Amino acid sequence: MKAIVLKETGAPENLVLADVPVPAIKANEVLVQVKAISINPVDAFVRRNQQALDIIYAPRDTVEHVILGWDIAGVVVGTGATVKKFKAGDEVFGNYKFIGQANAYAEFTAAPETDLVLKPANVSFEAAAGATMAAMTAWVSLVNMGKVKKGDRVIVHGASGGIGHYAVQIAKHFGAYVIGVASGANRDFVLSLGADEFIDYKTQRFEEIITDADIVHDAVWSDDNMLSDDENHLSRSVAAIKPGGKLLSLVIHPNKSFIERMKAEKNVDVIRVNVTPNATYENDLQYIAGLSIG
Ligand SMILES: NC(=O)c1ccc[n+]([C@@H]2O[C@H](COP(=O)([O-])OP(=O)(O)OC[C@H]3O[C@@H](n4cnc5c(N)ncnc54)[C@H](OP(=O)(O)O)[C@@H]3O)[C@@H](O)[C@H]2O)c1
Repeated sequence: MKAIVLKETGAPENLVLADVPVPAIKANEVLVQVKAISINPVDAFVRRNQQALDIIYAPRDTVEHVILGWDIAGVVVGTGATVKKFKAGDEVFGNYKFIGQANAYAEFTAAPETDLVLKPANVSFEAAAGATMAAMTAWVSLVNMGKVKKGDRVIVHGASGGIGHYAVQIAKHFGAYVIGVASGANRDFVLSLGADEFIDYKTQRFEEIITDADIVHDAVWSDDNMLSDDENHLSRSVAAIKPGGKLLSLVIHPNKSFIERMKAEKNVDVIRVNVTPNATYENDLQYIAGLSIG
C-alpha cells in the first residue's frame, strides 16, 4: 500500500510517498481503508522535533517506517477476532492510538475498535476526519472540565481555529452566550458558527470589552505569554472572568503559584486542559457524531 513516511524529523519535504506493507490487525482492531485524515498542530510539532517524536509517536526500535497522524475517517475492511462493534463496510472515524504509533497517513491502518465510532451518513469523510482531535479537545475542555451550561458567558479564543470553531458550536449547543475572539478577516465565519459577539484580537483588547465571563476557553499561543505574569494572555483572560468563573488553558501551562494566586485573589479556577485518552473518549466522540444529525 501507499503511505506517507517521515524520512527524518524536519521540514514537510521530509514526508515522502512510499510503498509499505498493509498492517496486520490485533484481535481488538479493525483494518480501515483510510478515506481522509486530518493534520493537527501536534503533527507538525512531531514532524520537526525529534524529542517530541520520541515522546508522542514513541517509535520502537523495530519501526521501519515512521508514519504520522492520528485522525482518520474511512471504511472498515477487516475485523479482528474479538471485534463486536463494527463489520466490513462500516464507515467510521476517530482519533486513535494517541499517544503512540497510529500510522494514519496511509491507505490502510489498524485501529482499536474502541477508538472509532460510526461516521454519520450526512457527514463527509473529510469533515469527519477533521472532527476528531479538534472537536474532542473542545469537548473535553468545555464540557468535561468547564461544565459549560445554559446561560454561561463563554469567551472562545482562537474561535476561527481547528479547536475554537468547534468550541463555539459546542458552547452554543449547551445554551451558552458565546464571544468569539479571532482576527477580523474571520469575523463572518465565527459569527456564522453561532457566536453572539465577535472580538478582533488584532485591534481590540477583549478584557476591556468583557469582564463578566463565566468561562474562558483559551487554545491559542499568544506572543504576550512572554510578558510578565500581570500582563500576559492568561492574566488578561482572568481579568475578563467574573469571580467564581473558570479559565481553561490548553496551550500555556499555568504554574502553581499563578493558579493559587488567581483562586485567592479572584476566586477564578485556572485549569490546565490536556487531552489524552480517557475513559469517556468513546462516549464523547459518539455524542459529537450525534450532534451532526438533525
Ligand atoms: N491541550 C490540549 O490537549 C491540546 C489538544 C490539541 C491541540 N492543542 C493546541 O491548541 C492550539 C490550537 O490548535 P488548533 O488546531 O485550534 O490551531 P489552529 O487551527 O491553528 O487555530 C489557532 C487559532 O488561534 C487564533 N489566534 C491566534 N492568535 C490569537 C490571539 N492572540 N487571540 C485569539 N485568537 C488567536 C487564530 O485565529 P486567526 O486565524 O483568525 O488569526 C487561529 O484560528 C495548538 O497550539 C495545539 O497544539 C492543545
